[in-house]
Amino acid sequence: MKHELVVILSAGGPKGQEIARVVRELQVFCEVLSNEADLERIKAKNPKAIITTGILDGNRKDLLELNVPILRKRDDCECGAEYGISEFLFETCALKGDWVMENVAQELIRHIKEKVGNKKVLCALSGGVDSTVAAILVNKACGKNLSCIFVDHGLMRLDEGDEIERIFTEEFDINFIRANVQNRFLNKLRGIIDPEEKRKIVGEEFIRVFEEEGKKLGAVDFLVQGTIYPDVIESGKEGAALIKSHHNVGGLPDVIDFDEIIEPLRDLFKEEVRKVGLALGIRKELVFRQPFPGPGLAVRVIGEVTKEKLDILRQTDYIYRDEIAKAGLDTKIWQYFTVFTGVRSTGIKNGERNYGYTIALRAVESIDAMTASWSRIPYDTLEAISRRIVSEVAEVNRVVYDITAKPPGTIEWE
Ligand code: XMP
Repeated sequence: MKHELVVILSAGGPKGQEIARVVRELQVFCEVLSNEADLERIKAKNPKAIITTGILDGNRKDLLELNVPILRKRDDCECGAEYGISEFLFETCALKGDWVMENVAQELIRHIKEKVGNKKVLCALSGGVDSTVAAILVNKACGKNLSCIFVDHGLMRLDEGDEIERIFTEEFDINFIRANVQNRFLNKLRGIIDPEEKRKIVGEEFIRVFEEEGKKLGAVDFLVQGTIYPDVIESGKEGAALIKSHHNVGGLPDVIDFDEIIEPLRDLFKEEVRKVGLALGIRKELVFRQPFPGPGLAVRVIGEVTKEKLDILRQTDYIYRDEIAKAGLDTKIWQYFTVFTGVRSTGIKNGERNYGYTIALRAVESIDAMTASWSRIPYDTLEAISRRIVSEVAEVNRVVYDITAKPPGTIEWE
C-alpha cells in the first residue's frame, strides 16, 4: 500500500506509540522504528517526515541527510503528545492525510486478492475483534476459498459460542467450522491450579484441535493471523520481565502444512481495526467487543476449573454485563468481568446460615492494557449488580469489588 509515511524514532518506551496513535488519528500513516535504526533502512522507506522522541536530541545528525522535516518531541514534554503534531504534518510538511480507514479496508482486500489468488486459506476465529476483522477481510478477498475454524473450548461467556456461530453462519457467506471440544478442554484442565500451566494447556490444546480440524480440509496454502501493529512493535522489545505468557490465536506455530502467513492487520492499531471492521459492515457488538483472554474463563476461575464453577461464573458475568449495559456504561468501561475467587464465606440466605462462594467484580480503564486504573462504577449500579447476583445465583452469597490498579495488580486475577 502506498501512503505518505512518517517515521517515528523511539527508544522503546510508550511515547513512540502514543505519538504514532496521534499521527494515525490525523489520518497520516506512520511507523515506529528504534531510534538506533540504520539510516539506510529509514531512507528506504522514503519518509515524508521524521518525529524523534526522548533522548535522541543531537545524537542523530545523520537524519539531516534525509532532507525531510524533523519534529523533536521530548519524553518529559509537559504538553500532550498531540501538541504541535497537526501543524507539523499539515503546515510544515504539507501532507494530505491519505490514511483513511474506508479506503484502507478496500486496499487491504485488493492486496490480499493479489497475494492469494485462487489458493486455499485457513483462519482461526475466536470471535474477538482482531480475528473477526481479519477473517472478513480475507473472506471479501477470497470468498469460499477461506475456511474459518472456531475452536469452542467451553471457556467462553454465557451463550457466546452459539452467538458467534449464529453471526458467522447467518450474517456472512463464509465457510465456518465450529469444533465443539468443551469436554476435551475440561478434561485437560482437571486438577490444574497454576495459571501459567492453564495457559499452556489451553494454548496447546487449541493448536491440537485447530490442527485436526485443519487437516480434515486437506491442503491449505495460507494461514491468516490477526497480528496487529502493537504486537509488531512490541516483538522488538527485549529484556521485559515475563508477567504472563499470553496465549492468543495470533500465536499459532506452524503445525499445519501451509506455505505462507497472511497478516492483514499487521499495520493497524486496535482503533483502526475497529474502523476497518465497521467499514466492512461487521456489527458493532463484535467490533466493540471488550478484550477477552485467549484462555477464556479458565483464568477467571481461581484454582481448579470445573464445569460447576464455570457455570456459576457465567451466570454472574451475564448479570454484571446486563446491569452495566442498563446503566449505559457498557461502551464506556474498557474491560469488565467477574472472577470466581474460590473463597467461601458465611452468609444468610432465606433466613438460614449459608456457606457460599465469593464473586469479585473487576472493571478497568486502560488504553493498551499495559497499565490500568479501576473504574469508578457508581455505588447504585454496584448495589444493583450485587443484589442480583446473590439473589439469582444460588451458590453465591458475597460480592466484592476489586479496586486495584495495574501495576501492581494485573487486569485478570490469574
Ligand atoms: P493482564 O491480566 O496481563 O491482562 O493485566 C492484560 C490484558 O490481556 C488480557 N489477557 C490475555 N489475553 N491471552 C490473551 O489473549 C492471555 O493469556 C491473557 N491474559 C490476560 C486481559 O484480559 C487484559 O485485557
